[in-house]
Amino acid sequence: MDAYTCILSKRDTRAYQDRPIPEESLRRILQAGRMAGSAKNLQPCRFVVLKDGPKKEELATCGQFAQHIASAPVVVAIVLPQDGREFDAGRCAQNMVLAAWAKGIASCPVTMHDGDCALRVLGIPQGHRVSIVLAFGYPPSSGSRRKGTPRIPLEELVHREGW
Ligand SMILES: Cc1cc2nc3c(=O)[nH]c(=O)nc-3n(C[C@H](O)[C@H](O)[C@H](O)COP(=O)(O)O)c2cc1C
Repeated sequence: MDAYTCILSKRDTRAYQDRPIPEESLRRILQAGRMAGSAKNLQPCRFVVLKDGPKKEELATCGQFAQHIASAPVVVAIVLPQDGREFDAGRCAQNMVLAAWAKGIASCPVTMHDGDCALRVLGIPQGHRVSIVLAFGYPPSSGSRRKGTPRIPLEELVHREGW
């Protein structure tokens, strides 16, 4: 799959097959996150990988729309220092989900509405925050896969030569 097809066909998926993600694929995903550029090359993001069932269930209680964390074979939390830029974390996240999708692995970002809960469950030291959690897993058969939500037409989205 070329990069453009990967970007356009990737939709956030909240249901996963009961099939583990090979360590080699997980490493590719993490490498893709690592290679994201950051402001001043500060490289502020750290990743916490979770496969353990009970811990995933606990983490799922830290978000309001996070139930699918429990059924995802792999979960990655992107952690920033308290003053870290969300944009840097966003670049890591998008790199990871696209690298995963290129290998047929679906994903969904999950917000930790109770940030302290996420810090506690993941054992993250003070002075950090969880920017976003990514749930990864092989998607269900294409027939039952969701098509995703529509996007604003390009004509409405884009202003040329100023707003
Ligand atoms: C910053 C961010 C936070 C999100 N948080 C959640 C969440 O907590 N739970 C969830 O199910 N989806 C979450 N999503 C997924 C969005 O709902 C999804 O990207 C949007 O509906 C578009 O989905 P699609 O690409 O499949 O059309 C989040 C997405 C982003 C970018």
